[in-house]
Amino acid sequence: MLLQIPHVLSQEQVAECRLLLEAAEWIDGRATAGYQSARAKNNTQLAEDHPAARKVGDVILQALEASPLFLSAALPLKVFPPLFNRYSGGQSFGTHVDNAIRHSSVTGMRMRTDLSATLFFAGPEEYAGGELVVEDTYGVQQVKLPAGDMVLYPATSLHHVRPVTSGARLCSFFWIQSMVRDDGRRTLLFDLDVAIQRVVQDAADHPAAVPLTGVYHNLLRQWADS
Ligand code: NI
Repeated sequence: MLLQIPHVLSQEQVAECRLLLEAAEWIDGRATAGYQSARAKNNTQLAEDHPAARKVGDVILQALEASPLFLSAALPLKVFPPLFNRYSGGQSFGTHVDNAIRHSSVTGMRMRTDLSATLFFAGPEEYAGGELVVEDTYGVQQVKLPAGDMVLYPATSLHHVRPVTSGARLCSFFWIQSMVRDDGRRTLLFDLDVAIQRVVQDAADHPAAVPLTGVYHNLLRQWADS
């Protein structure tokens, strides 16, 4: 499932974070690429342990903890400390798949990447090109979101970033290890959760609400690692 999560960060948060990010020193993005993806990658990044990366990363992690949509869709067990990239002057990232296992040199965390996330810090009007193109189970999807919005997609997907031909594309990217590693099961739980919320909003005392909530939790109990 590919899911767009609007307004993860407010416009004020985006503006404050951009001041920190734009004042930082950017390095060759191949620093964090695996052998295969280093050949396709052409962008700049902040070093993982850069103070601006960690400060803005913490803002993102706090916002995710407060996002019911993110929590329901990702069922997160571990979230990688957010990284940051910048594309301009024709830079792009060719088709690749993200590494299955990531190790954070900052926190020492080692995790499996079930979901990939991209959070946009530049609005679509600020640059040309730069679409994130994801080959999902339902076909090819192109994503270019307002600043503050985020896209979640299965880390198993092949994906690429189209060349940025003018302006600059500034994003955060990171991975999530989910309590439910299988994308199909995770999607089913998300759909069930959304449906239950609708029933409850419509009729708070609906007699199906409690048994359906029971089914949700009992499926989660069967499928979750914690
Ligand atoms: Ni990638």
